[in-house]
Amino acid sequence: MCGIVGYIGSRNVKDVVVGGLAKLEYRGYDSSGIAVLDDGNIKVVKSVGRLANLEDKLTSAPVDGNAAIGHTRWATHGKPSDENAHPHQDCSGRFAIVHNGIVENYLSLREELTAAGHQFRSETDTEVVAHLIEELYNGDLFQTMIAVGKRIRGAYALVVLAKDHPDEIIVLRKASPIIIGLGENENFVASDIPAILEYTRDIYVMEDGEMAVLTKAGVECFTMEGEPVQKEVYKVTWDAVSAERGGYPHFMLKEIHEQPKAVRDTLRGRVAEDLSGVTLDEIGFDEAFTKSVDRIHIIACGTSWHAGLVGKAVIEQYARIPVDVEIASEYRYRNPIYTPNTLAIVISQSGETADTLAAMREMQSKGVRVLAITNVVGSSAAREADDVIVTWAGPEIAVASTKAYTTQITALYLLAIHFAHVRGNLNDAGVHELLEALAALPQLAEQVLDTAPQLKSFARRYVEATDTFFIGRGIDYAVALEGALKLKEISYIHAEAYAAGELKHGTLALITDGVPVIGIATQPDLYEKTVSNIVEVKARGAFVLGMTWVGNDDLEKTVDEVIYLPKTLPALAPIAAVIPLQLLAYYAAVARGNDVDKPRNLAKSVTVE
Ligand code: F6R
Repeated sequence: MCGIVGYIGSRNVKDVVVGGLAKLEYRGYDSSGIAVLDDGNIKVVKSVGRLANLEDKLTSAPVDGNAAIGHTRWATHGKPSDENAHPHQDCSGRFAIVHNGIVENYLSLREELTAAGHQFRSETDTEVVAHLIEELYNGDLFQTMIAVGKRIRGAYALVVLAKDHPDEIIVLRKASPIIIGLGENENFVASDIPAILEYTRDIYVMEDGEMAVLTKAGVECFTMEGEPVQKEVYKVTWDAVSAERGGYPHFMLKEIHEQPKAVRDTLRGRVAEDLSGVTLDEIGFDEAFTKSVDRIHIIACGTSWHAGLVGKAVIEQYARIPVDVEIASEYRYRNPIYTPNTLAIVISQSGETADTLAAMREMQSKGVRVLAITNVVGSSAAREADDVIVTWAGPEIAVASTKAYTTQITALYLLAIHFAHVRGNLNDAGVHELLEALAALPQLAEQVLDTAPQLKSFARRYVEATDTFFIGRGIDYAVALEGALKLKEISYIHAEAYAAGELKHGTLALITDGVPVIGIATQPDLYEKTVSNIVEVKARGAFVLGMTWVGNDDLEKTVDEVIYLPKTLPALAPIAAVIPLQLLAYYAAVARGNDVDKPRNLAKSVTVE
């Protein structure tokens, strides 16, 4: 989840690399650094803290040259510090490297290299690679890197600069994302596209087990054995501004407001114009396969896992296929039970979450077909899964996921309707009714954004709050889980989601005078039961914000404030219901003066276990 940028060419290398890192800071931001080939020597400048600290240092110690590599770090091995920041160097200072991932055998390598006389300056796993390069270097950097690749285990995107090879940058990839940007007489490398989009739209997506040599004049790709590889150029079609804030004070607010478009884009081309069915041409499920599936395992982490819970509710309701929703980090170690006709669905915004990918590979190794729902076209999940549904949310920059979640749910609705239709659980009229409601969702999402002022005002209660609870039943409970996670991660307030009926089995003891509670009641058949549970918390002094469908004034009798949501089919309520909760978390975090887009301790893409 660190950010890497490298450049070789005639521009100001510091501007390209530091500017690119600024666009990747969301990947990790406890320290940063740059190495530049400056007048025949490698000059390294690093700083703990935000990128601004590095920029300050570079103002007093400017760098210039034709090649540079840079890094923003999210600590895994070793605390955030100047020493642990990348780039790392060998003893002689002839090499500089930046790395994203984990070198699993770094301890044994460190022992071996220490015994050979190498002196280490940091606590990182990465530094061993710099020393290993020095140890194995035989004058041929390319062959040396092949040898290095054979010695290190784990996940890595590695970018190497060498004093004796001033005209090249070498890149290695194993299980950590990295892309190459192709320019005219200049080339780029980065862990993600926004970093270099200002300069080029022509990209090589590096695959696992590949390496690349960048010179000013061109880029050559190879296997880790040194065999040449022909790469296809991937043309980026989205706009650079869509990766920037576009006038909003924070990416998160921008992304919340992008949800109507993101849902619309995810539906586009997948719903027949006459609402007669779903077209999911990108997945290769033929009728026989669709009918044969007898169990679904949905595997994901965090917010994507919450989307999976909504998926379970709708797939079970409409397609009547039993669904288990699993946390990826648990799933892969628990020897899951599956049938010959089990379908695994992995959900991942980034498509690079280590636990989710590991679970996916585990299922594939057992012969289970895996469908990935992901937002990143060139991601590992997208490339490795048997089938892929892309959510067209566009780049999600804020650490707290919003539009990825609503588009994941949209994709799961499409899938549920597809299964139900093909398997005969829904007739044509049923499909028509659902698709009509589905097609209206973008408009609903737009309407519900109008609740922002109400949420902003309610969020003031959270300036001093220490605890809060989100309650709901059925699909509302799934939404409550996501609402609580959003509030926790950016406002740092302790928040818990409870199945409303479960509260009285223990947690009710925590409800005291003035504790804010969010009561979600969007399901008509569960409405009265949920209201009874809201009454229970009211009786203990809670201050309750209720959410229900427009026209249901009844809730006003019970709660302190009501958010009215546009009417839709009960199963489709989560998209409109989650948006006020995202806004609540956003305004609470702003009111508390927090760094909304970059919450403490978190990174956007969790590429380590
Ligand atoms: C929370 C959040 C995380 C991610 C989780 C999985 O707002 O964003 O909980 O959902 O880290 O990430 P992906 O979906 O990229 O696999």
